[in-house]
Amino acid sequence: MIIKTATAAFLAILTSFTFLLFSPTPKSSYHSLFISDSLSSNTSISRHLHTLTRRPHVAGTPANAAAAAYVLSIFTSSNLLSRITPYHVALTYPISRSLSLTPSPSSPPITFDLQQETYPGDPYADVAAEVLPTFHAFAKSGDVTGHVVYVNYGRVEDYETLKKMGVNVSGTIVLARYGEIYRGSIVQIAYEQGAVGTLVYTDRKDYGGGGGGRWFPEEKWLPPSGVQVGTVYNGIGDPTTPGWASSEECERLSDEEVEKGGDLTLIPSLPISGADGETILRAIGGQVANDDWQGSGDAPTYRVGPGPGVVHLSYAGKQVIEQIENVIGVIEGEEEPDRFVILGNHRDAWTFGAVDPNSGTAALLEIAQRLGKLQEKGWKPRRTIILCNWDAEEYGLIGSTEWVEENRDMLASRAIAYLNVDSAVYAPGFWASATPQLDELLKQATQQVKDPDNSSQTLYQAWIGSSSSPTIGRLGSGESDFAAFVQYIGIPSADMAFGKGYPVYHSMYDDFVWMEKFGDPFFHRHVAVASLWGLIALWLADAEFVPFDYTSYALELQKYMKDLEVEISDKNINLTPLFKSIEELKKAATIINNQRREIEQNEGWPSIWKKDHFKVRELNDRLMMAERAFTDQDGLFGRSWYKHLIYGPSRNDDYGSKSLPGVDEAIEKAKRLNTAESWKFVQHEVWRVARVVRRAAKVINGDLT
Ligand SMILES: *[C@@H]1O[C@H](CO)[C@@H](O)[C@H](O)[C@H]1NC(C)=O
Ligand SMILES: *[C@@H]1O[C@H](CO)[C@@H](O)[C@H](O)[C@H]1NC(C)=O
Ligand SMILES: *[C@@H]1O[C@H](CO)[C@@H](O)[C@H](O)[C@H]1NC(C)=O
Repeated sequence: MIIKTATAAFLAILTSFTFLLFSPTPKSSYHSLFISDSLSSNTSISRHLHTLTRRPHVAGTPANAAAAAYVLSIFTSSNLLSRITPYHVALTYPISRSLSLTPSPSSPPITFDLQQETYPGDPYADVAAEVLPTFHAFAKSGDVTGHVVYVNYGRVEDYETLKKMGVNVSGTIVLARYGEIYRGSIVQIAYEQGAVGTLVYTDRKDYGGGGGGRWFPEEKWLPPSGVQVGTVYNGIGDPTTPGWASSEECERLSDEEVEKGGDLTLIPSLPISGADGETILRAIGGQVANDDWQGSGDAPTYRVGPGPGVVHLSYAGKQVIEQIENVIGVIEGEEEPDRFVILGNHRDAWTFGAVDPNSGTAALLEIAQRLGKLQEKGWKPRRTIILCNWDAEEYGLIGSTEWVEENRDMLASRAIAYLNVDSAVYAPGFWASATPQLDELLKQATQQVKDPDNSSQTLYQAWIGSSSSPTIGRLGSGESDFAAFVQYIGIPSADMAFGKGYPVYHSMYDDFVWMEKFGDPFFHRHVAVASLWGLIALWLADAEFVPFDYTSYALELQKYMKDLEVEISDKNINLTPLFKSIEELKKAATIINNQRREIEQNEGWPSIWKKDHFKVRELNDRLMMAERAFTDQDGLFGRSWYKHLIYGPSRNDDYGSKSLPGVDEAIEKAKRLNTAESWKFVQHEVWRVARVVRRAAKVINGDLT
C-alpha cells in the first residue's frame, strides 16, 4: 500500500487500514467469506467425488493418472501454480491366487472363487472388472498347505490365549479376522508365532451389521462376498529407498537388502470375504473359542483348531517399479513466501475410493476453488499455501513420504504446519488429531463452522457433546500421510474427518452410491470438512503470529508422565529428569506467549510504521522450530527412520498411536525379560525423552548456553 497524498479521504482510509492491521487476523473478512454459504457448494463437491470415483484407480495405473490430471486441472483453473511431482517406486500387483479347503480327510476340497459380486442395477458393473483381484499388497509369494487355526483378531494377546489353551500354531495357516490391528501386524505376528500362511477375513459381527441378512446396496453393511484388500507392508515409503527419494534413476536396495530391513512380511497372506471365512470356520474343530472370539447372529460356533480343515493357499504377486504422481498446487505468500502451510490428502484408492480417500480429495478441490475465488477478490496469503494430492498412500504412505524425504531440509527450515485429511467422511461424528500446540486452534476453528448435522449448533458443540472439552487424538500411528511430516521431521500437524470406520472399507463397494446413500447423503459433511480444513490453513497462513500454544504440549506431556508413574511405580526408574524438562517447557510456553503480547502492545499507533518485523519473525521461528526439537537423529531404537520421540507407532500395531513410543517399547521389553539391564534401558529412554523436551524448551526460549 503506497499512499502519496494526504487528504481527508486518505486519513479515513488510513484509519480503516490500521484497524485491520491491528486485529489478530488482518484478513479475517476473507476468512469469513471462505466459510460462508456463498462460497460453499455441496453440488460441486459431490460432482468432484463423482468424477474422481468413476473407475477403480490404484496407484501406478492409467486410471489413477487420469484422476491426477483431473486434480491438476482443478488446481490450475483455480489459479494455483500447479505441477505433478512424479516418483518411481516399488509397487506390487497380484498375478495369481488360489485358495482351497479340505474340510476333513474324507471330504473333497472346496475351491473358493475369490470374487466380489456385483448386484442387479449396480451402476459400476461395467467397470467392476477393472477392480484388482483381491490381494495384500507386498504379500510374500508362495504356496503353502496346513491345518488351519482360528486366531481371533491376530493380536499378540490372542496367541497368548491360544497358548494357554495348549494350541500350537507352528506350521499352520492362521485365520484371523480384521478389526482390531493393522493387517501388516496381523501377518507379522502370525509369522513370529510360526504360522506358514495367513488368511484375514471380515467377520459379519464387525462389518456385516451383526448378520441381519441385509447389506449394501440396501444397507451400509459389507456384502458376504466383500473383501477388504490393503497393504501388509510394515514400513513407510518406498521399501527400496529408505530415507531418500525414489527418483527415476536413484540408488535402490536389492530384494535381499529390503528383506533384511524387516518391514516386509515373510509368509503368504490373502484377505478373504466373510462368507469364505465362515466356510473355513466350519471346518475348524477342537476347543470352543472364548465368547469374545465368537461371531454373531446365526454364525456357527467358532472353534480354534488346529484343523481338521486343511487349507491350500497359493499367491503370486509381482513387484514392479512404477511411476506415481503427487499433484502439488501453490499459492505463494505475499509477505513470507518462504514459510509453508501444507494441506495434504491422497488420491489413489484400492477400488473406487468414494470414502477412502476421495471424499478428502473432493474437499481439497473445493478448498482450491474457494481459494481461487478469494484471490479473485484480492486476497493473498501472508505465507505460502501448498495443496498436495498424494499418490500410493495405500501401499505404505509412499507418495507423501518420498516427497518429504526429497524436500527434507526445505521442509525442516520452512514448514509451519501440515494439515492432513485422508477420507473426509465415513459417517457422522467429527474427530480431530493433532500435535498439541494446535489444540487451541482446532477448538477455535470448529467454533466458526456449523455442525453439518444440526445447523443450530457449531461443529465444536457437536464435537464436545456433553463434555466440557473435546478429546483430541495424537499422531503416533502410521495410518496416513501425516506420518513423515510428524515422525520424520517434526512438523506440527493435524488430521481430521467425520466418522472412523465404515463397513465397506477397501472393498469394491466403496463407491459413489454408498457415499450418497449412507456416508453423506447431502454432502454437507464434505462441505464442513472443506470449510474447517481451509479455515485452519488460512489462519496459519495469514496470522501475523503463528497461532501455536505450547502450554497444551506441556500439559499433555504431564499426562503421559503420570501414566508412566503408575505403570512403573515399583521399578525404581527415576522420572525426575522428565519432570524437570516438562516444567521447563511449560515455563517457556508461558514466556513466549507473554513476549508475543508485549510485541503486540508495543505496536500501537503510530508506531505501526516502525514495527519490528524481525521481532515477529524471530518469535514465529521459535514457535515453528520447537516441534523439530522433539526429534532425535538416532530415532527410535531399532527403527531409526522414526525420529520423533514423543509420537510414533506402536511396535505391534502400526495403527496404534503411541506417546513416548521408545519408553513404551522399552517397558514392554523389560516387563518380558525383567533383567536389570532391560530396566536400565527404560531409564535410558526416559533420559532421551527428557533431553528432547528440554531442547524444545530451549528453542522456544531462544536460548544459547
Ligand atoms: C510347536 O510345534 C513346533 C513344530 O511342531 C515345535 O517345534 C515347537 O516346539 C512347538 N511349541 C510348543 C510350545 O509346544
Ligand atoms: C441441535 O443443537 C441444539 C443446540 O446445541 C440442541 O439443543 C438440539 O438438541 C440439537 N438437535 C438434535 C436433533 O440433536
Ligand atoms: C445440497 O444440499 C441441499 C440442501 O440440503 C439438498 O437439497 C441437495 O440435495 C444437496 N445436494 C447434493 C448434491 O447432495
